[in-house]
Amino acid sequence: MLFEAFAAGGCRSYILGCEASRAAVLIDPELSLADHYRGHLLQNALTLRYIVDTHTHADHFSASRQLGATLGVPVVMHRQAAAPYADLRLDDGDMLIAGALKLTAMHTPGHTGDSMCLVMADRVFTGDTLLIGGTGRTDLPSGDPHALYESLFQKLLRLPGDTRVYPAHDYKDREHSTIADEIAANPRLQKTERAEFVAMMRDLDLAAPTHLTEALRTNMSGGKTVAQLLAEAAARVPFMAMEELDARLGANSGGDLVVLDLREKEAFAAGHISGARHLPRGQLELRVNSELPDPTVRIVTCCEFGKISTLAAATLRELGYLRATALDGGIAAWRTAGYSLEAEAPAVPRPSSS
Ligand SMILES: [Fe+2]
Repeated sequence: MLFEAFAAGGCRSYILGCEASRAAVLIDPELSLADHYRGHLLQNALTLRYIVDTHTHADHFSASRQLGATLGVPVVMHRQAAAPYADLRLDDGDMLIAGALKLTAMHTPGHTGDSMCLVMADRVFTGDTLLIGGTGRTDLPSGDPHALYESLFQKLLRLPGDTRVYPAHDYKDREHSTIADEIAANPRLQKTERAEFVAMMRDLDLAAPTHLTEALRTNMSGGKTVAQLLAEAAARVPFMAMEELDARLGANSGGDLVVLDLREKEAFAAGHISGARHLPRGQLELRVNSELPDPTVRIVTCCEFGKISTLAAATLRELGYLRATALDGGIAAWRTAGYSLEAEAPAVPRPSSS
């Protein structure tokens, strides 16, 4: 079997490949590694058959939906997963077959209600049910320490002792451990009485993961992260460097170049690029027809930090303004770089509609 582990922060993901058939399975992909997985599959002439999320992650962004859609590969989750984009939902005991690879789902609720481990002949992918020297937490949505106790002591830890454990997280760069090692040394598994185990889990008092609400929103719904939305907009528009804009404005007052400032009224009044037109982002679609009657005009959008302007330039392109660009950096960066700003609205006549 071809086997590759990937790490992004403390998150672990895995690609398993069948040497004979070149079929592959990807487990718990993380969004920031999407291009790495594609590269690995190409390099090794592997064809992905399944993308599996061991549970609804609350602490990072799953790449399952994006990869599933772009590669045309089914996304697999447990039957109880909320994600509407899961193509294949497994029950306890269901087996996935990809070439010579056989992975059996073991439903192990506790960290989340939809947690499952994937059991192979010599190893188990434990998601966040069992970590090396730890367990997943049980205080996030659908978590249940009683269920985790049963999943661990009545199911997972009954696998043969030499079964290798590959978790979805490790913060100390350890590659794997074994069921026997964990039974012997994992501090949380020393609480073998249900009441003691549950009390220990309830007393952990852990900080909420960063991005908790955004991760749950995107992983449960298949919606986009804000960073994804911005990256998609950025891929659809060209940018203009501050130096370039400054030089163009200096040369001939910008020629037919329209600098479109999308900030709120007060921010615009306090200081804007010389000659800029003011059209708040919230009114863009409402006023665009009257404000920008010529779709062939060259536009540079700007905002305070360069993000709203990127989204707006993408919207303008979608609306048919095919020369819309966004300023690289926002007015904050423009100010910091020492370029001039005007405090009063310029007396530039707006084109009449007649
Ligand atoms: Fe998790």
